[in-house]
Amino acid sequence: MSYKNILISSENSIATITINRPTKLNALNKATIKELHEAFGELEKNYETRVIILTGAEEKAFVAGADIAEFAHFSVEEGVQLAAQGQEILFNFVENLKIPVIAAINGFALGGGLELAMACHFRIASDNAKMGLPEVSLGVIPGYGGTQRLPQLIGKGRAMEMIMTAGMITADEAYRTGLVNHVVPQNELLDYCNGIAQRIMKNSPLAISKAIRAINANYKDGENGFETEIKSFGKCFGTEDFKEGTTAFLEKRKAIFTGE
Ligand code: COA
Repeated sequence: MSYKNILISSENSIATITINRPTKLNALNKATIKELHEAFGELEKNYETRVIILTGAEEKAFVAGADIAEFAHFSVEEGVQLAAQGQEILFNFVENLKIPVIAAINGFALGGGLELAMACHFRIASDNAKMGLPEVSLGVIPGYGGTQRLPQLIGKGRAMEMIMTAGMITADEAYRTGLVNHVVPQNELLDYCNGIAQRIMKNSPLAISKAIRAINANYKDGENGFETEIKSFGKCFGTEDFKEGTTAFLEKRKAIFTGE
């Protein structure tokens, strides 16, 4: 499939998606959101891909937010629709993907950009990155899950302050609050993410997808995370990956997982 607003490259089962609208600081317009949905869906179906890294083109921005020009004249109904559709086809979609998704935050991650990074399974930032949810400065609130995921990641009080002040925090501040897991020099960002991806790929893809499901269950209304964990744990016992992992351990060799 060919895309206009994103680039995809794959090497050794690691796919990198680059949001590629640098003249608009990679802002998320509807077309880009749709392309991202399709790309993530395709990569999930393709059994070759074991980890996805999501980043932004060039050095200035990961994503500077939803495309303000596109929604500036929206009505109430269109606003509801924009948030609902975006959450469904991209933000929740990424969070629930079976393959690990790492956000490589290479610059500004603002508004929908930070919301997208927060929907990824975890985040690594370059030292020049700046993050914030500036929506209230535009007279609107975060609509792609920011009011929910930011408090989950950094705590309610800090999230309240960030959202109310519409301020930006540095990569180091983001590290201190747990918003990002690591901060690295910009020119090392993708290699660093690749290194983590390599470590993930040594493990069972099936078990990883079940772990993602169980961890996410804690944050879903009406779902009991402990129950989900018990069921997912049990299902692992019926998999080839479990047989291979335990057998390899007992035979003192490295496991070769097939994801079955
Ligand atoms: N939506 C649409 N276009 C955006 C954008 C967004 N969220 N963020 C940046 N752009 C565009 C600018 O309009 C500009 O386009 P132009 O050259 O055609 O005028 C281009 O990207 C470069 O941005 P610019 O503002 O000139 O860069 P800067 O270095 O002066 O400032 C930012 C960088 C990130 C501080 C600034 O672009 C900004 O505040 N962006 C909006 C952030 C935001 O509020 N996001 C939440 C949206 S809900």
